[in-house]
Amino acid sequence: MNGSVAAQPYLWWQTGLIYQVYPRSFQDSNGDGIGDLEGIRQRLDYLKWLGINALWISPIYPSPMADFGYDISDYTGIHPLFGSMDDFNRLLEETHRQGLKLILDLVPNHTSHQHPWFLESRSSRDNPKRDWYLWQDAKPDGSPPNNWLSVFGGSAWEWDPQTQQYYYHAYLKEQPDLNWRNPRVQETMLNVMRFWLDKGVDGFRVDVMWHMMKDDQWRDNPPNPDYKPSMSPYKQLKPTYSVDQPEVHQVVAKMRQVMDQYHERVIIGEIYLPIQQLVTYYGMGRPGAHLPFNFQLISLPWNARDIALAIDQYEGALPSDGWPNWVLGNHDKSRIASRVGQAQARVAAMLLLTLRGTPTLYYADELGLQDVLIPPRLVQDPWEKNEPGLGLGRDPVRTPMQWDASNNAGFSDAEPWLPLSHDHPKKNVAAQQEDEQSILMLYKKLISLRQAEPALHAGSYRPLHAEGDLLAYLRLTESKTFLVVLNLGHAPALFKPADMEPKGELLISTHPLPNDKLVNGTLKLRGDEGMVIRLD
Ligand code: NOJ
Repeated sequence: MNGSVAAQPYLWWQTGLIYQVYPRSFQDSNGDGIGDLEGIRQRLDYLKWLGINALWISPIYPSPMADFGYDISDYTGIHPLFGSMDDFNRLLEETHRQGLKLILDLVPNHTSHQHPWFLESRSSRDNPKRDWYLWQDAKPDGSPPNNWLSVFGGSAWEWDPQTQQYYYHAYLKEQPDLNWRNPRVQETMLNVMRFWLDKGVDGFRVDVMWHMMKDDQWRDNPPNPDYKPSMSPYKQLKPTYSVDQPEVHQVVAKMRQVMDQYHERVIIGEIYLPIQQLVTYYGMGRPGAHLPFNFQLISLPWNARDIALAIDQYEGALPSDGWPNWVLGNHDKSRIASRVGQAQARVAAMLLLTLRGTPTLYYADELGLQDVLIPPRLVQDPWEKNEPGLGLGRDPVRTPMQWDASNNAGFSDAEPWLPLSHDHPKKNVAAQQEDEQSILMLYKKLISLRQAEPALHAGSYRPLHAEGDLLAYLRLTESKTFLVVLNLGHAPALFKPADMEPKGELLISTHPLPNDKLVNGTLKLRGDEGMVIRLD
């Protein structure tokens, strides 16, 4: 058992819930078909109603938009598409006035190729900023310095004819990687953090944290024996030397030190690594990230035994002072309702909102929105453009939020930058708010129970033995115990624990509640049903 409710007070990012807003797609306020900061401000009431505590907004900074804002050309400005610094200040103020927190996306691994630092760096070999990026000579035959691949396709090295060297880019060639071994790069980026923290921003989600340091000898990555042609070409090699280098923990610790100079701020790391490596980002010797994102629910097969095992392994791997967290979806991955279907999306919501640790929700997952098929002529994502047809494109998961049955689902007066899901006249916030059985209302009930009950937002987790498609666990404090039983299969199932006789009251089900909510002994679950029961 892990994480008993100790005397120390829990912080907002531990007991609360984070909601990811993809700003281009949340709410357009100026009729250009693209969401903006003022739009987010206008929708804060909704987030408050839903019961979340913090919003994380994907990048809103000036950017040529080669990778939709993850290619930044000014770290302390606002892209005019999203509004002005005044709009940002207003959003921050209003967020705080509503008792919510605001988390920004920080992209320290790479800049835009249009960033003035890179323009200087590439201008000549002896420019003072040359060493801010990763420049290497060609091999004698003119080929790139090593075999490293770009996540988005092709070599990770781009030749610069003017200065006759290659530069490294883990993502697009328009996203050159910074040299984090350079103290001036470090200090400059830490100052970027201070700039936003001074403004009152409550934390950062740090983009590709595990990429920030690379092997200093630039060794070739080994081939991946598990590679199959159906996978992304990037997976042909194991990124042994290009990611997760031991020195990364020193820079994460420096970032954390900056955070610690402010009151109750949070640093979240985007890290795709196996659990044993992931948990090292809580800190190696010195404190690291507060929340290294735990993406297991995105990558695991949707099956009760695998998930039960993964929860136990994660709980077991966490450092004693490491706070857990769970994520069901984000702007890079297929939506949960597409991965598991509408019925299981409700079970997934119950899982996310009853596990121990901070949940992160991806906008519109609470409506059961599915991936939207994007016709080739409307493709926006550079990954899909580089490597078409492999299912790697991320446009399908970035379509506009569906607010109501009006034109363009209430998202915009103009045609949205990506098409809406065809089901928007029915699947929208307004319609689901009117329907007690909607997935949105299920989310709301689960969130409000989680917020009200210390056992759910801070209590311990105890797995229960279950078989087949059932997943069962307790969440408890000394004074209260909740039993969660989830049926990850479509067929009805009985939950008959050997070592206990559950007695209590059924509080929330993914299905309509029966008149008699008393539970006494064996539980009968319908296919795709999940239950939260308060035990006597
Ligand atoms: C991870 C971000 O989530 C993704 O959207 C982006 O393309 C890459 N990092 C590169 O910044």
